[in-house]
Amino acid sequence: MQSIIDRPELAEAGSARMHWFREQMPLISLLKARFQEERPFRGLNVAICLHVEPKTAYWIEAILAGGAKHVYLVGCLGTTKADTAAFLAADPRITVLAREQDTLEDHQRYLELVMEQQPDLLLDNGASLILAYCKKPRSWKPLGANEETRTGRLLIDDSGCDIPFPVIVIDDSPLKKLLENAIGVGQSVVDGFMRATSLLLGGRRVLVIGYGWVGSGIANKFRAMGAHTSVHDVDPVYLLKARVDGHTVSEELVELLGQAEVVITATGRFHILTTAHIPYFRHGAILCNAGHFGFEINADELRDAADLVEDLGGGKESFTYGDKKIFLLENASPLNLSAGDGNPISIMDLGLALQACCGARHATDGSQLHNGVQPVPRDIDCFVSRQMLRT
Ligand SMILES: NC(=O)c1ccc[n+]([C@@H]2O[C@H](COP(=O)([O-])OP(=O)(O)OC[C@H]3O[C@@H](n4cnc5c(N)ncnc54)[C@H](O)[C@@H]3O)[C@@H](O)[C@H]2O)c1
Repeated sequence: MQSIIDRPELAEAGSARMHWFREQMPLISLLKARFQEERPFRGLNVAICLHVEPKTAYWIEAILAGGAKHVYLVGCLGTTKADTAAFLAADPRITVLAREQDTLEDHQRYLELVMEQQPDLLLDNGASLILAYCKKPRSWKPLGANEETRTGRLLIDDSGCDIPFPVIVIDDSPLKKLLENAIGVGQSVVDGFMRATSLLLGGRRVLVIGYGWVGSGIANKFRAMGAHTSVHDVDPVYLLKARVDGHTVSEELVELLGQAEVVITATGRFHILTTAHIPYFRHGAILCNAGHFGFEINADELRDAADLVEDLGGGKESFTYGDKKIFLLENASPLNLSAGDGNPISIMDLGLALQACCGARHATDGSQLHNGVQPVPRDIDCFVSRQMLRT
């Protein structure tokens, strides 16, 4: 199958950018060497849906070193780096289906193309591959799947799909929650915000919607940079935690919107900000998202309702409603990945090591796994933690 990418001529630039990431991902280097010897993925076709960026690329090198026959890589919406896509697509063992401006329809078409290849393993993010498999009766089933993120887990639960193979939810690992979600995303969202806007954070009024692992990390990092932070969550338990952590809180979103200069969604749910909130936004408010899918903000609806939409370049748009103007960053794609380089390298070294080990478990020793969703096996959490402590 032919790759579908933006600019194949960027392969060399993408390759040049890999050196730093190979240096800085000791867990993936260790697994790559081990996989080279043990060949856990020998002869397997591996379908992957993940952000197309250099950390993912190095992890794919490890999977190929483990004997995988072919990798089918579908990008996530709004986060593809064209040079990495070109670098990967230059390898005949990899088919890349990822362009920077892909629509949901493109994404769904890619997923179906990958299903036609009947892959042996699904290494997923946002449950895209898993739910594409479940969409219609299939004549084959994969050995197993991994699901990377919270949103994917929620979508699987909501679908009611009876999945006929094991699915390991990486997000259910304490390691992923404690390190990536709570620590890594906060840092990278602050970085993404600064790269996108060049604004001073000190004194700025920042509202975070959703105070789970990700939202709490974001709110705490913005506050550490001097921002005045407020938090809305539908769960009073999380709201209480936010209050005790020192943020202004309210169960009523609209009570907080009027003050907020920056509004960041991190709920894992869809349509948290819609046209119903236009009367409550402060003039000049900047909206952005850190959740897996951009649909947390109903950007299309906000755009359609505007009297004037202006593309300000660099991933920034303004929407004017009467005498009020608001701004949207990166079409609501996850800000850390679309405006920045994603989570810190060491954090993804860890998260992708979990993905790699769980993938190898499906491929070589799935007998202890059951069909449907389950957490990362404890021995894998312990192994990856110990290796990270050593590095
Ligand atoms: N950008 C990244 O790099 C990155 C990394 C990891 C996870 N994520 C994504 O971040 C999102 C949040 O993940 P998490 O681990 O914090 O999940 P979580 O379940 O720990 O937290 C979500 C919080 O949102 C709240 N919430 C749900 N619906 C709400 C609503 N309508 N209004 C207000 N609050 C609401 C919940 O009560 C909960 O406290 C998910 O989409 C996840 O996939 C992004």
